[in-house]
Amino acid sequence: MNSLLPHLHFRRCEVLLIEPNESIEFDFATLLTGGDGLRRTLKWLALAPHLGQPVEVDAAQRELLGRISPSRWIQLQDLEADIPVVEQLLSLGLLVTKEPGLHDAHRLRDERMRSAYWHPLGAVLHAFTRWDEVDAVKNMKESGTETALEMRQVLGAPPTEARRIAAEDEALIRLPEVPHNDFDELMHRRVTCRNFDAARPVPLATFSKIIERALAAQSRVAVTDDMVFLKKNVPSGGGLHPMEAYLIVQNVEGLAPGLYHYRADAHALESLPSPPGALSDFVMEAVAQQHWFRDAHVLIVLAPRFDRTFWKYRQHAKGYRVVALEAGHISQTLYLSATDLGLGAFITGAINEQHLERALGLDPTTQGALAICGFGWRDKVMVTAELDPGSKIWA
Ligand SMILES: Cc1cc2nc3c(=O)[nH]c(=O)nc-3n(C[C@H](O)[C@H](O)[C@H](O)COP(=O)(O)O)c2cc1C
Repeated sequence: MNSLLPHLHFRRCEVLLIEPNESIEFDFATLLTGGDGLRRTLKWLALAPHLGQPVEVDAAQRELLGRISPSRWIQLQDLEADIPVVEQLLSLGLLVTKEPGLHDAHRLRDERMRSAYWHPLGAVLHAFTRWDEVDAVKNMKESGTETALEMRQVLGAPPTEARRIAAEDEALIRLPEVPHNDFDELMHRRVTCRNFDAARPVPLATFSKIIERALAAQSRVAVTDDMVFLKKNVPSGGGLHPMEAYLIVQNVEGLAPGLYHYRADAHALESLPSPPGALSDFVMEAVAQQHWFRDAHVLIVLAPRFDRTFWKYRQHAKGYRVVALEAGHISQTLYLSATDLGLGAFITGAINEQHLERALGLDPTTQGALAICGFGWRDKVMVTAELDPGSKIWA
């Protein structure tokens, strides 16, 4: 590489944040010497989303990164720098080269990041909060926070359930009680479902209706041949509807269990290759081992194409938030739609995104899973807790 280096053009990767990081581990030895039993390690981490993993950098590397532009190609002669430091940063992927043939994967991923117009903080948040092989249930068990009472014991009291500004309730301006109608009743029956009846398949028509209400396009508006907007039942930032839905169908009459992509513009499914092993194992890994969702008849991976929204909202401070908020709109519509037809629905944010990216072929520089929601017939027996204080579902 030394002989090549003087001829190369390079620049810094586009998005990079440097974090002074502390990791804390239990260390019995420090207890014996009068310490607190914890070993603290401080290091500088480079958070470059196109790499997917944080990388440790030393003082020389950090200093050089601050002197190299992410937008202008330079050569070694334009820079007063130690050749080995430049080489290290090139192999780490924090510097990228213009010439193909050297560290191509880093350059290509950096180019895809650039083409998606991420806001740097959105890109870092998204890239470094993705899970792989996380067992959320084990983590709750180990921290002793499985039940509400355990949480109170371990975490102390939470902030109050509602903010109060007036010191006395007499100061409240009471709003009129308007009689309930069917819509109110439907909303009161919306209870997150954590108990599914695996013995009863969902009819195809019911499945189709629930999906249509939450995900389908009602119509299509072609401004030009290559700029088309869809109208859906849920709002969307900029009207761009970046959210794709990947379905894990487990128990629907007339549909082979497996993975599908939903085509919102055609209200149709596209088959995807089956994951290896049992589908229920795939589901368990996807929902970070939350066994109460294993028997859900249908699970929906909400996976936006960030580049569609960021095409309009380029490096926009609100871009990532706008996309994330849409998952909530879809989920609530799905909950109400399922509830209306007598089924139960759920959403979970505790998901192993990297497992899903691999199985669904999602490029993490432009797309990614944000949440999984799903629905199915509720079981007759409640094994896992559901929040139904008004006995709207569970008599
Ligand atoms: C964004 C989001 C993420 C959630 N993640 C989980 C989850 O990981 N596991 C779970 O069992 N429930 C999850 N829930 C469901 C909540 O626990 C549930 O909404 C809450 O307990 C209130 O109950 P309700 O929906 O029946 O009113 C999530 C809800 C939301 C809105």
